Amino acid sequence: MDNKMRLQKYMAQCGVASRRHSEELIQAGRVKVNGEIVTKMGFCVSEQDRVEVDGKLIKKEEKLIYIMLNKPTGYVSTVSDPEGRKTVLDLIDGVNERIYPVGRLDYDTTGLLILTNDGDFAFKSTHPGQETQKTYMAEVMGMPSNKELKALRNGIMLDGKQTAPAQVEVVDIKPESTELKIIIHEGRNRQVRRMCEAVGHPVLQLKRTAVGRLALGDLKPGEWRYLSMKEVKQIRGKKNG
Ligand code: URA
Repeated sequence: MDNKMRLQKYMAQCGVASRRHSEELIQAGRVKVNGEIVTKMGFCVSEQDRVEVDGKLIKKEEKLIYIMLNKPTGYVSTVSDPEGRKTVLDLIDGVNERIYPVGRLDYDTTGLLILTNDGDFAFKSTHPGQETQKTYMAEVMGMPSNKELKALRNGIMLDGKQTAPAQVEVVDIKPESTELKIIIHEGRNRQVRRMCEAVGHPVLQLKRTAVGRLALGDLKPGEWRYLSMKEVKQIRGKKNG
């Protein structure tokens, strides 16, 4: 933020004291800006300035927020798109914080996507090797044989590197397609689609239903809600949620 604001307002926003009490602190010579005591009322600062009260640096508290979205098809899961397509941020109204998606879902994939402004959380939950389990429901063309299911479970060679073991279950068999529940804990590009394609059963529809123990529940496509701190801790806490 480049906007300047009155010192007492900034102090109040940092949770130091009320504006009035902050004025008193300023007048009493207890506030320094960039190392200099400021007693002048109306002095303005920006977030780039170093403000100390009684020798202690103060900071604006950033409210960390965590959102679960049921991503519909037809949206990119980035904050902007060079091709001008709609982004998942277009679905989130009334949130002023600068949030962004944790990981990606393809344009045509639906389901659970987390958005946050907590960079540390985003980094930890997508860090290779530390990734949370992700559960997908994939409707694939045809009916995979036991051998093909085993290959999906054991790992598929993608870009010269084997995918890690996955859990794969047949959930429903339809006349021309099969519904599979697939749990992976990697996040390679288009991983589920490419794994299914590699065994000869391209994905017709793909939905992410859970990340760790956090499940999409009955959120409709396009709907979102805030996560509770308990849910955030669950995802942050353990590799498998
Ligand atoms: N795997 C895919 O192929 N696509 C996704 O969006 C997520 C996982």
